[in-house]
Amino acid sequence: MKKVILVFLALAMAFTFVACGTANNDVKPTDEPKTEEPQKLVMATNASFPPYEFVGENGAYEGIDVEIAGKIAEKLGLELEIVDTEFGSIIGGVQSGKYDFGMAGMTVTDERKESVDFSDSYATAVQVVIVAEDSAIASVDDLTDDGSVKIGVQQDTTGDIYASDDYGEENVIRYKTGNDAVEALKAGKVTAVIIDNEPAKSFVAANEGLKILEGAYAEEEYAICVAKENSDLLDQINTALQELTDDGVIADIVEKYIPSK
Ligand code: ARG
Repeated sequence: MKKVILVFLALAMAFTFVACGTANNDVKPTDEPKTEEPQKLVMATNASFPPYEFVGENGAYEGIDVEIAGKIAEKLGLELEIVDTEFGSIIGGVQSGKYDFGMAGMTVTDERKESVDFSDSYATAVQVVIVAEDSAIASVDDLTDDGSVKIGVQQDTTGDIYASDDYGEENVIRYKTGNDAVEALKAGKVTAVIIDNEPAKSFVAANEGLKILEGAYAEEEYAICVAKENSDLLDQINTALQELTDDGVIADIVEKYIPSK
């Protein structure tokens, strides 16, 4: 009988331990830190600008800027979030803090520098002129402001600014994206499109019957923009860009999208 009671007691104690153990496991200590999502780095772009930023076949953002930004975010230990917006609203959104930075094949200009700060430049570009293959416009000099030529541009880009200055706003038709301007050219709504050289090459390759005129229209440098008070982020971006340049990472990304051969 004693044995039976002892066994019973032992079992009861064991059960109590198990029960306590289970209960204890259910109650999480209140001071345990919550598993936070990794902090985000929000990039504003306008993703109709191949090979710098575009929406790939699987619906994901791709391109030189997208990949460089991904590497920068990785170095900063942050998760990159990309927001596709109109080119002309990138700077305002960066200024207001809606986006951490803008990266969109964006040319450094004195006027933009009044609104935002720019990182070191990571690419150079030139503005070129696209026309129909059978166009009467044989060179950049054939573009005039006499009203016989209509020029298509992406609104708020340097192409828009140069074209409006040189040929008059009345001869410039502004489109939401470079692709829309190229579609207008194909449809005969404009005589020429002024746009950055690499997107121009991409658009001409993707569409029949277009060509790029000889001769660069204007030379420029691309950089990342951040809000003026955000010098910490600017420093971090510049350090990352320098490392990515030194390690040949940027050269590899560029080679992937703009093969040298
Ligand atoms: N480089 C030109 C500019 O800064 C055009 C940039 C357009 N970029 C774009 N992602 N759509 O004005």
